[in-house]
Amino acid sequence: MSDRIHTLSGYFHEYQKSVADPENFWARVADSFHWKKRWDKVLDWNFEGPDVKWFLNGKLNITENILERHLYTIGDKPAIIWEPNEPGEDSRTLTYRQLYEEVCRFSNVLQEKGVQKGDKVIIYMPMVPEAAVAMLACARVGAIHSVVFAGFSSNALADRINDCEAKVVLTADGNFRGNKKIPVKAVVDEALENTSTVSTVIIYQRTGQEVSMKAGRDFWWHEAIEGKDAHQEAVEMDSEDMLFILYTSGSTGKPKGVVHTCGGYMVYSKYTFENVFQYSPGDVYWCTADIGWITGHSYIVYGPLLAGATSIMFEGVPTYPHAGRFWEIVDKYKVNQFYTAPTAIRALQAHGTEPIEPFKLDSLKVLGSVGEPINEEAWHWYHTHIGKTKCPIVDTWWQTETGGIMVSPLAGITPTKPAYATLPLPGIQLAIMDTEGKEMTGNSVEGNLCVKFPWPGMIRTTYGDHDRCKQTYFSAYKGMYFTGDGVKRDHDGYYRILGRVDDVINVSGHRMGTAEVENAINEHPLVVESAVVGYPHQVKGQGIYAYVICDMKNRSEQSLTNEIKDTVTKIIGPIAKPDKIQIVPGLPKTRSGKIMRRILRKVAEGNMDNMGDTSTLLDPDVVDKIIEGRIE
Ligand code: WT7
Repeated sequence: MSDRIHTLSGYFHEYQKSVADPENFWARVADSFHWKKRWDKVLDWNFEGPDVKWFLNGKLNITENILERHLYTIGDKPAIIWEPNEPGEDSRTLTYRQLYEEVCRFSNVLQEKGVQKGDKVIIYMPMVPEAAVAMLACARVGAIHSVVFAGFSSNALADRINDCEAKVVLTADGNFRGNKKIPVKAVVDEALENTSTVSTVIIYQRTGQEVSMKAGRDFWWHEAIEGKDAHQEAVEMDSEDMLFILYTSGSTGKPKGVVHTCGGYMVYSKYTFENVFQYSPGDVYWCTADIGWITGHSYIVYGPLLAGATSIMFEGVPTYPHAGRFWEIVDKYKVNQFYTAPTAIRALQAHGTEPIEPFKLDSLKVLGSVGEPINEEAWHWYHTHIGKTKCPIVDTWWQTETGGIMVSPLAGITPTKPAYATLPLPGIQLAIMDTEGKEMTGNSVEGNLCVKFPWPGMIRTTYGDHDRCKQTYFSAYKGMYFTGDGVKRDHDGYYRILGRVDDVINVSGHRMGTAEVENAINEHPLVVESAVVGYPHQVKGQGIYAYVICDMKNRSEQSLTNEIKDTVTKIIGPIAKPDKIQIVPGLPKTRSGKIMRRILRKVAEGNMDNMGDTSTLLDPDVVDKIIEGRIE
């Protein structure tokens, strides 16, 4: 049974029902899953704690809804089709039966290594099918996975291992990305020097590069699964048991572990997948995200596989070996739904339309966008050149914390408007708040985006620090979940996301805290103080502009800024490397010592005509010096 909505009036009808009686609405959706034991109560909640529970006392294992559920109906259908980095290398297909068997085998490996319900397992792997197998095997044995994007540095990896006290790390020897071969195991080795909880590391062999193996701790994946039983009894989980932890950046320094639980996440990821993409059985679906981000979790692995879809997984990058690679893959597998980020669209747009010309792209039915606001120009380019003006674009707004898509058109059903995420999905009750903390009702308003009622896929806590969850999301507006985004509701009631209103920047769809980048910069021994802001960037959406006070020690600015960039790469990863570093004599501080970021943002944007009121600055002259040294 599918809960797919088919018409616009159907959407409005479902939305009304979901608001009038949320419990019955979600109970109906949840009833289409296999539960080992049905829930006693649909929902218990308050946003003060916060304390949110869905499908109370329901027992399940999410992997039974992906594997056993499809074994006898679509066992021979491809679940995952993997396209390697090199177009010449063979692709791989895992049918639902093969996926079942691989997950069972690896579940048996995990249990043999002593992994038990509640243990934390870090997955630091490239985009290979085994990464999805690893996630599902964790879920099957009741272990809590925490996938760390394989582009993060050893420091960042060690922080995450330590924060969740992981017992096991699943990784690979190396990673092929474009024309690069990136060491992966070596990064893990470095991270493990600063951790103490990991007893087992399992390494999938991908590149064949030399790695060091520590006896008793490190095991090869292919050796570990040898002779393992291809059947395994899924561990019974409670609805509110943790399914995974995923670290994400906020406005304070340290990334936080967003916790999602089994029952609600399962229901929400499948429901939103089927409805937003209007998935029909037989469709081939491709999301280009990395499994290290929430998009990969919900819309490469869990959502599509719960729906019995064929999900493409791509190891490489959009421009290798040529700028038409995405479109080549779309034609090769006859992709029906294609889901990517605006930054990728803009990067490909810069190559012109020539790379698209050899490809038909006639299998495409739906195009998706996620991760950052899509500018109108990119929207039109995507619509015209990729969708040939016949594919609806679903601009999907959501967050790591929301677990699944919150505001989006339903493909082909909701009339679209460029740059608008349009309307909330059923079950999602939005509120726009003004600066005084009052809800702004009616249309044609602009303010901060909140959600006033729980939905099954929402964050339950931040791992190990519930108070942080409360402070970050449930304190700005009483009784509401605050998203951190600014939003406009236009005269039609359509939502347009305006971007973050906090100290979070979005670089190529990657979320970063300015404080986190500052902390990394400050690790350089000659840095005295720094301040980081975002600025509009043609391709990345936002670029990183760093103002740094340095003890120059007769060093050239050039060599120092390069070293600072290396420091950030080492502490966080290449994605956080500042685009521009300006060495400054001082920062614009108020008498109370607070940095006036507004000024720094204006300079970074090149918008220096009206700097506003600077009378409260301790040293107003510093502003002129900063403007003088501005980096173009
Ligand atoms: C932030 C969440 C959700 C998966 C990827 C990012 C921004 C996300 C959109 C969109 C405008 C968007 C928001 C949000 N964002 N999608 N369609 N339009 N902005 O997840 O790393 O948790 O980042 O990404 O600012 O708060 P994330």
